[in-house]
Amino acid sequence: MTVPRSAQVYAQFLLPHLTSAAHLVDIGCGSGELSLDLATYVGHLTGIDVDDAEVEAARQSARRLGVDNANFVRGDAYDLDPPHQADVVFAHSVLEALDRPEAALIEMKRILRPGGLVAVASVEYGGLILTGRDETPLRRFYEIRERLWQIEGADPYRGRQLRGLLLDAGFVDVTATTMSIAYGTASAVEEFGRARAEDCTDDWYVSSAQRHGLTTADELASMRQAWVAWSESSTSYAAFAWCQALGWNR
Ligand SMILES: C[S@@+](CC[C@H](N)C(=O)[O-])C[C@H]1O[C@@H](n2cnc3c(N)ncnc32)[C@H](O)[C@@H]1O
Repeated sequence: MTVPRSAQVYAQFLLPHLTSAAHLVDIGCGSGELSLDLATYVGHLTGIDVDDAEVEAARQSARRLGVDNANFVRGDAYDLDPPHQADVVFAHSVLEALDRPEAALIEMKRILRPGGLVAVASVEYGGLILTGRDETPLRRFYEIRERLWQIEGADPYRGRQLRGLLLDAGFVDVTATTMSIAYGTASAVEEFGRARAEDCTDDWYVSSAQRHGLTTADELASMRQAWVAWSESSTSYAAFAWCQALGWNR
């Protein structure tokens, strides 16, 4: 079973700044996995996502878990309209998917109260640590994924840009940090490797990679096999860099 991601791990850089009175707006909240955990640290959380299905999934999880201080609405990071001004705006694993991150940050600043805080986190593919018996097809998997992201307007190297992006958007006292998420136990390696093996048959990955001439059915099958083997090997290890930044609206 997949262990849910927690705010303690993924939003640790933000937690010391949260108060029980704060209104936290989570932009690109997805299915609410982190939002619902974050809601326990604040007075109210508004989750916003452009995808209706994700918003509905977040609402259902809130009902199932009995979280009554969070609401989820459809909205666009480029055109925000929350019901109240935010004390804190959070965007986790979102800016890397946007082709105009500066515009989204300026919009986040617009809904922050004076003195409010923005907290963003993005993966940084330049910080990937990956080892195992047969690394070549695994690295090739990421080479293709990075290329697909770039073709679709996303940026696998957004993490390193966060400090500059926040300063350019007008935030002050900006602090950027990096943390690592490691897959270094038998169960973590198994889960991570199997998930990547499944990615090699994922509709989006397969159809986009083939449409753009980046891979073949044979290569996809060999990468899938390599990830399955990696997931079962005691020499396997992987870690991802997550860059994070805080900035104030003064
Ligand atoms: C990788 S998911 C991250 C979800 C969540 N923040 C987390 O870390 O678990 C990225 C989310 O951003 C949302 N998203 C992408 N573009 C958006 C936009 N312009 N406005 C709002 N949400 C957006 C997607 O629908 C998706 O749910």
